Amino acid sequence: MKSAGGRLLAGLELHRDAAQPLHRQLYGQLRTQILTGSLPSGTRLPSTRTLVAELGVSRITVVSAFEQLTAEGFLRSRAGDGTYVDTLWSDNAPRQPLSRPPLSERGAATSSRGADLSGEAPQAWAPAESESFVASQVAASAFPAATWKRLLGRHAGSTEQFMNGYGDPHGHRPLREAIADYVNDVRGLGCTPDQVIVTSGAQQAFNVLAVLLLDAGDTVVVEDPGHISGRLAFQSQGCPVRGVPVDAEGAVLPDENDVESPARLACLTPARQHPLGIAMSPARRAEWIAWAERNGSWIVEDDCDSELRYRGKALPTLFGLDLSRHVITVGSFSKVLAPSIRLGYCVLPEDLVEPFASASSIIGRPPATVLQAALTDFLSEGHLHAHLRRTRRLYAARQDALLEAIDQRLSRRIQAEQVDAGLHVMGWLREPLDDIEVARGLAAGGVYTYPLGEYRVTRRLPPALLIGFAGTAEDHMPEAVGRMAAAWDRWEQLGARS
Ligand SMILES: Cc1ncc(COP(=O)(O)O)c(C=O)c1O
Repeated sequence: MKSAGGRLLAGLELHRDAAQPLHRQLYGQLRTQILTGSLPSGTRLPSTRTLVAELGVSRITVVSAFEQLTAEGFLRSRAGDGTYVDTLWSDNAPRQPLSRPPLSERGAATSSRGADLSGEAPQAWAPAESESFVASQVAASAFPAATWKRLLGRHAGSTEQFMNGYGDPHGHRPLREAIADYVNDVRGLGCTPDQVIVTSGAQQAFNVLAVLLLDAGDTVVVEDPGHISGRLAFQSQGCPVRGVPVDAEGAVLPDENDVESPARLACLTPARQHPLGIAMSPARRAEWIAWAERNGSWIVEDDCDSELRYRGKALPTLFGLDLSRHVITVGSFSKVLAPSIRLGYCVLPEDLVEPFASASSIIGRPPATVLQAALTDFLSEGHLHAHLRRTRRLYAARQDALLEAIDQRLSRRIQAEQVDAGLHVMGWLREPLDDIEVARGLAAGGVYTYPLGEYRVTRRLPPALLIGFAGTAEDHMPEAVGRMAAAWDRWEQLGARS
């Protein structure tokens, strides 16, 4: 076959100042040309001497690239006759535009792009150059960095077998003990360490529970509005969700006369309804437990938001009230410490512990043992209690600063009231706007909030924004809220003109 030297050379572009060495660049570009079919099989490549002269690189650069491509089956050299593109890869090169199936229905239900793979990448979680009032954000500056570093260092260099092998699928035993002490003390669960399984945050617990407890098609009751990623975990298993409204006593029970089959599972946030912030009344708690018993259904109690309390005492968990073992409690260190450490737990009825541990190790393996060991010490040496005391004071002050700034700069647009716990207030819009559009408009101006509309299942809700206060310093709050007001004005002006 005729040499492809001219065409090949025109397609090569090597950059001396790039981070990647020249031989890797040459290798990568030749490989792409072969894989995409632009260098068909049997093509004879220019000699190394020609490439050296034309590309202005050393012989070793060309030889290294050729050797690597030959080792991987892309090139073949014939003694005394030059180097050719091998048939192995190039005959399989796609000749037509790429056509691939869309995501599965379950995949599409959980993907921000729907079934389509070609859409834009989702927005960065915490973009730089922004004011973030994102509801789940904690104060990074308050993270107990020195203590955490010391505790990690204590375990990081360990040559112990348990620290260097696969971790126990139930979690590191000392951490299970420390978590049991903590939840019994702070949340009145009344569990043993054997009932605690360590997870990579609440999200992993929801995913495992969805696989373990539900078959595709089983109905799940969720709060409407309710926590988004918990709901998506159930939907991603092919389970339809049925939203129940939230009133002044918490989530309302589903109308049992209205539906053919009862839901197999209900996912609730009794301590502090997410996102509205309502504490479920004792009477409603009793009704939900009776509902689970009557229908043979599970209740997943999402208790991720209850320790950061500024006034009053949280009511104990449903788990602690449930004698019939229908309740599973999910907790997380994302808000009390930081979401980046990805540690949480699931507290289960005894007979669910082993099935959960097996499913959990298939779905995600336990979290890194070194992190679990550091968290064990963090809990058992009292650092978490100290950190909670500090952050409660800090967040209470940040909430006050936020409400004051809203009062001064945004009161004609939103109405917000003090909350007793959690990391966000509800900013109810005074005008009947689409809150998703408002949040997008603010984001375009570099100010990030979550719109209530994204938490809805089917109900129409009054428009509101969740406005997080934990991530913004008290003395910066007036400026940050000022930016929100300015972004809102700009968005409104743009809307008025279009
Ligand atoms: C109510 C609620 N549940 C669950 C989660 C998820 O927690 P994790 O980060 O542990 O997955 C959050 C996080 O913001 C939350 O607010």
